[in-house]
Amino acid sequence: MAQSRVTDVLNKPDAALELTLRPSLFSEFTGQPKVKERLEIAVAAARQRGEALDHLLLNGPPGLGKTTLANILARAMGVNIKCTSGPTIEKAGDLAGLLTNLEERDILFIDEIHRLQKTIEEYLYPAMEDFKLDIIIDQGPNARSVRLNLPRFTLIGATTRSGLLSSPLLTRFPMRERLDYYDAGQLQQIVLRSARLLQVPMEPEGAMEIARRSRGTPRIANNLLRRVRDYAQVRGDGRITAAVADQALAMLEIDAYGLDEMDKRILETIMVKFGGGPVGINSLAVAVGEEPDTLEEVYEPYLIMEGYLHRTPQGRVITELAMKRLGLKPASRQGSLF
Ligand SMILES: Nc1ncnc2c1ncn2[C@@H]1O[C@H](COP(=O)(O)OP(=O)(O)O)[C@@H](O)[C@H]1O
Ligand SMILES: [Mg+2]
Repeated sequence: MAQSRVTDVLNKPDAALELTLRPSLFSEFTGQPKVKERLEIAVAAARQRGEALDHLLLNGPPGLGKTTLANILARAMGVNIKCTSGPTIEKAGDLAGLLTNLEERDILFIDEIHRLQKTIEEYLYPAMEDFKLDIIIDQGPNARSVRLNLPRFTLIGATTRSGLLSSPLLTRFPMRERLDYYDAGQLQQIVLRSARLLQVPMEPEGAMEIARRSRGTPRIANNLLRRVRDYAQVRGDGRITAAVADQALAMLEIDAYGLDEMDKRILETIMVKFGGGPVGINSLAVAVGEEPDTLEEVYEPYLIMEGYLHRTPQGRVITELAMKRLGLKPASRQGSLF
């Protein structure tokens, strides 16, 4: 259990740390070059026309920079950003309050937009399309609908689970971007920048060691950096070399390949319970105790990218690489495996 507690901590946003390390300009935002280019063009064009940025949906696993990008966009547009999240908007009145307080061209950021209630979502459609909000005031026989005119605002929605978004909502976002996992070189740059900001002496090889073990995720990289910094301070002279990073990460039981507890559980379950696969996503989800959507949208993309898992029409199949890295022996009956 110790290990999954470590994983929990590493995945959890740390508000103070994120504020210090969060890039506020496109030029400080490493990686995602195509997304960045498209967004920079959209900003430049909207600014030239003096218009609000088009509504934007940001999709991707946790910790890859969705909130960061929304804030960078607000700054680049020179507008205010109001941040909220799907589950905290409980009544139509909450939404009306948020929308009517916006100024022309402001950004409303709705995190976890897939968790918005259906009824709230329906109020959002005319707001996004026509900048109008129809709300019902009073109840019973006095109930009447009032139409409010809204400023031309930009909605930025963020989601880890775009598969759960209804198609009417999806189609109301003219811009949709997906963030991908970062490669080790990009994460190394991010770790070096964070180390500079935190004034931690860091060797490039030390940053690489942290980068390789961060599951492609800047948030995890920054959190690991902080743990490694503590270790270097107490057990060494404060300087983070490759050897110090390696010792610190080993002490934290961070896998040499950056796999977390759930990644390993998924691979081991396919191997041990399903003979290596193929196994359908629903059976796998029950066996590991996670929702199928979460498996598909949060865990699988990384495992597939790293070559641990194949997705076939019959289901998920574990790869030889995964067996090797996890020290798993292929089942004796091998015929159906590859
Ligand atoms: N491209 C990037 N370059 C540098 N740091 C990044 C980048 N993306 C994310 N981060 C760091 O990771 C942290 C988590 O990013 P965040 O935007 O909160 O992720 P998300 O909203 O997708 O869960 C940020 O505070 C920031 O320090
Ligand atoms: Mg976020």
